[in-house]
Amino acid sequence: MRKNIVAGNWKMNKTLQEGIELAKAVNDQVTENDDIVILCPPFIHLTEVAKVINKKNLFLAAQNCASEESGAYTGEVSAAMVKSTCADYVILGHSERRSYYGETDEILNKKVKLALANDLVPIFCIGEVLEEREAGKHLDVVKTQVEKGLFDLSKEDFGKIIIAYEPVWAIGTGKTATPDQAQEMHKYIRDLIAQKYGDQLANDTTIQYGGSCKPDNAKELFANPDVDGGLIGGASLKAGDFVAIANAF
Ligand code: PGA
Repeated sequence: MRKNIVAGNWKMNKTLQEGIELAKAVNDQVTENDDIVILCPPFIHLTEVAKVINKKNLFLAAQNCASEESGAYTGEVSAAMVKSTCADYVILGHSERRSYYGETDEILNKKVKLALANDLVPIFCIGEVLEEREAGKHLDVVKTQVEKGLFDLSKEDFGKIIIAYEPVWAIGTGKTATPDQAQEMHKYIRDLIAQKYGDQLANDTTIQYGGSCKPDNAKELFANPDVDGGLIGGASLKAGDFVAIANAF
């Protein structure tokens, strides 16, 4: 059975002290149940945040990792380093990484494999930009991202992946995909997985929605049969809002 998962991507927000306070507040407020809640602070916060969370369903993710294993890559953080902080997950392929830092499907495929080799679960982000949706190409764009990023994985490795569908036009814009748009795409992604890896694995794959998900629209989005939670940006910076979204199942 697939899991419901809500992850909070803090992006480049919060000093270390502010981050610790936010993590403590989420830890205090989060409901302990079978749904998974993940905090994704900046790299340098991970170790300290790990010390202040203790709910059994609350975990940590990095927002990225390097595409190389180790060595002379100034400023990079490897998958092994992320794992050594107590993080269990890593966001890969966020649209901000793809567009501002030139991360291609090929680079992301390397990162996915390094993450898996280091026992990190990738939260793999995909999604189309507005022009692609308006041109009716959104399904094809997402298909290519999934195929090139993930479809050379073994069945066993694919079974560890979380997918986050984030229409780029909805990220940070206050413009959310309608529940129907989200459901259509999530079902499409699940069908692609079924064709490649079979129905069982497709059914077991968590597919999150991301893009201006807030306490007041999360319930409607998560009520869709193929929407298994959310990757939350802006609304994850306030403990009350984030926990309200995590409670929206
Ligand atoms: P947002 O960001 O919730 O602020 O739209 C989502 C994301 O980028 O993951």
